Order: sequence, then C-alpha cells, then structure tokens
Amino acid sequence: MTAIPETFRAYVVDRQDDVFSRGLRTLAPGDLPDGEVEVRVGWSSVNYKDGLAATADGKVARVYPLVPGIDLAGTVVRSAHPSFVPGAAVIAHGYDLGVSRHGGYAEYARVPADWVVPLPLGLTAREAMALGTAGFTAAMAVVALEERGLEPGTGPVLVTGATGGVGSTAIAILSELGYEVWAVTGKSDEHAWLETLGAVGFLTREEVAAEGRSLETERWAGAVDSVGAATLPYILRTLRRGGGVAACGNASGPALVTTVFPFILRGAALLGIDSAYLGIAKRRRIWDRLATDLRPRALAERVTEVTLETLEPALDAIRAAEARGRWVVRVGG
Ligand SMILES: NC(=O)c1ccc[n+]([C@@H]2O[C@H](COP(=O)([O-])OP(=O)(O)OC[C@H]3O[C@@H](n4cnc5c(N)ncnc54)[C@H](OP(=O)(O)O)[C@@H]3O)[C@@H](O)[C@H]2O)c1
Repeated sequence: MTAIPETFRAYVVDRQDDVFSRGLRTLAPGDLPDGEVEVRVGWSSVNYKDGLAATADGKVARVYPLVPGIDLAGTVVRSAHPSFVPGAAVIAHGYDLGVSRHGGYAEYARVPADWVVPLPLGLTAREAMALGTAGFTAAMAVVALEERGLEPGTGPVLVTGATGGVGSTAIAILSELGYEVWAVTGKSDEHAWLETLGAVGFLTREEVAAEGRSLETERWAGAVDSVGAATLPYILRTLRRGGGVAACGNASGPALVTTVFPFILRGAALLGIDSAYLGIAKRRRIWDRLATDLRPRALAERVTEVTLETLEPALDAIRAAEARGRWVVRVGG
C-alpha cells in the first residue's frame, strides 16, 4: 500500500482576520494531525453538524483551517497499530473529526487507532456513509430505548424530524423491527416517502410544538427526538407510564422547558444520546448491528451522491432544514 501522496485535495473552511472562507484546497501530509492510522478516504457524508461547520456563524468549527466531515470511510494505507493493516476497510466518525481536527472531506485522513471501526461485513463503504453519523445516532437511540424496556407491541413510537437523516433512519429501523411508528414532519408532501419507510401515522410540527398541560393523555411508548425545543416537552407529557424518549438533537432549538411530573408521576425517562464520544467498543457493536438486525433496508433510494466539488449546496441545504434523506460524498470512490 502506498502512503499519503505529497499533495491531495480537500474541502477546507477557514477564518483569517475574521474573514470566513471555504472551498477546495491542496493539502500535504504534514497538514494532517497525528494519529496511528492513515486512511485513503473513499466516502464521507453530509450531516447537520457539517452544515454548521461550513458556515461562518455555525459555532461548530473549533480550529481553522479545518477540513469538515464528521464521517469517513476508506482504506488503511499505513498503520502504526497492529489492529489495522494496510488494505483494511474502515470507518471513523465523531470524536473530534471535522470539528477540532481534520475530518472526512479530504482524500486522506490520519486518525487515532481507538477511533477506528472495521467496516462491518455486509456493508460497503458507500452504504456505511449513507448511514453515517445520522444513521448511527438513530441506531443508538433505538438501542437506548430497547435497553429501557421498549419492545414491539408495547405501543406506538414517535419519531420527530422525520425527513432528516436521524429521523428517517430511525423510522426505517423501528418499523423493520416491528414497531408501530408515527412521524412528526413539517413536509406534508413527504408522507408517501415516509410511509415507504414504515411510518403509519403523522403529526405536524405545529401539533407537537403547541402549549399543553404538564401531563396529557398517555400516547407514546417511546420516542426518538432530533428536534428539541417545544417538541421534547410535548413528548415528555404524552409518554406512557415507564416510556422513554431518546433526545438526539436540537434542530429547532436547545431550550428545554418542562415539569418534573412526567418523571415523578409516570416514571418517564429522558435518554441522552451522544454519538460523538460513545466509547469505541460500544460503537463497533452498534455498527455490527447496523449491518445486520438494525439495517434499515428501505432507506437506500433516498441517498444523493455529491463530490468534494459539488457538496457545498448540500451543506447549505441541510443547514436550511431542507434535508430529505441523506447525502453521501464520493471523495476517492
Ligand atoms: N446526539 C448526537 O450524537 C447527534 C448525532 C447526529 C445529529 N444530531 C443532531 O440531530 C439533529 C438532526 O440531525 P440530522 O442529521 O437528522 O439533521 P437533518 O437531516 O437536517 O434533519 C433535521 C430534521 O428536523 C426537522 N426540522 C428542521 N428544522 C426544524 C425546526 N425549526 N422545527 C422543527 N423541526 C425541524 C426537519 O424534519 P421535517 O421537515 O420532517 O420536520 C429536518 O429534516 C440535529 O440537531 C443534529 O445536530 C445529534
């Protein structure tokens, strides 16, 4: 296997003298941070966090210049760690990637060995990135709900931000496991697609963002929420006794105003989901499940392919809440 070439292409965001810029640049191996494993990046993906990293006011990038891309999949070209040999197919996502060290929007990456996941049998690198951090987060949320006691037949499960990466994958995973899945979406023209993923009922964003009493009729056995703000209090006050909500995101805002009643009168659980810093052993186990029993087969058609040259509109679209499924980035292919 060859090592990293003297120059390679990367999509870079930068801020110099308070002027924000972004675009393709040529990098050299010395521009990459330290790490035991060098990877020729085949594929990456576009996540909400990448959209934030690629905008001047996104408050995600911690260093400049930065190669965004919190996801990457590729082939090891050099390794100082015995677990990874040149030629091995690997994934890395989360941790500091694309935030405070260079991520997946470059033809080569250098990462710590304990951030690396072997590409599970049964998934191609492109399929893994079609899932990416969004799909991984959805799977983590489902696992957290199941560990809390949710199982098919315990009642309907609500998924918010339904047409987004986390939401659409959660719908597909849950319905393929046999759950009755309801979706909250602001895009009524996407009901037909969400039905193909397995959603059986719909609520509007407005219905779940309305003011309500501290406890309302018990409705949901569980929920996956990537929206936050007014939506999460609605879920808490309508969860069935003993139910849980996996809180994954804040697409509509970070504030949380609720009462203690769902917790002390119905035993509701607020399950925090942090995909970025989940330990590597659990991370590898979830990827193995994403390749097997949690694999969302219905999702494949809603994947749009972009390249380093054409990914900017996708970054802007996800920031503008226009996501409909997932984007994969063909970096080296
Ligand atoms: N905890 C973690 O480890 C983790 C990992 C990945 C992502 N996240 C977070 O999870 C959230 C979703 O990520 P994603 O990749 O799925 O993003 P995404 O693809 O952009 O999807 C977000 C979805 O939320 C809905 N939405 C957007 N703006 C909204 C608003 N103002 N009010 C109500 N709903 C709104 C939209 O769905 P509809 O149009 O269908 O309503 C949108 O498609 C983000 O906050 C992201 O930062 C967290």
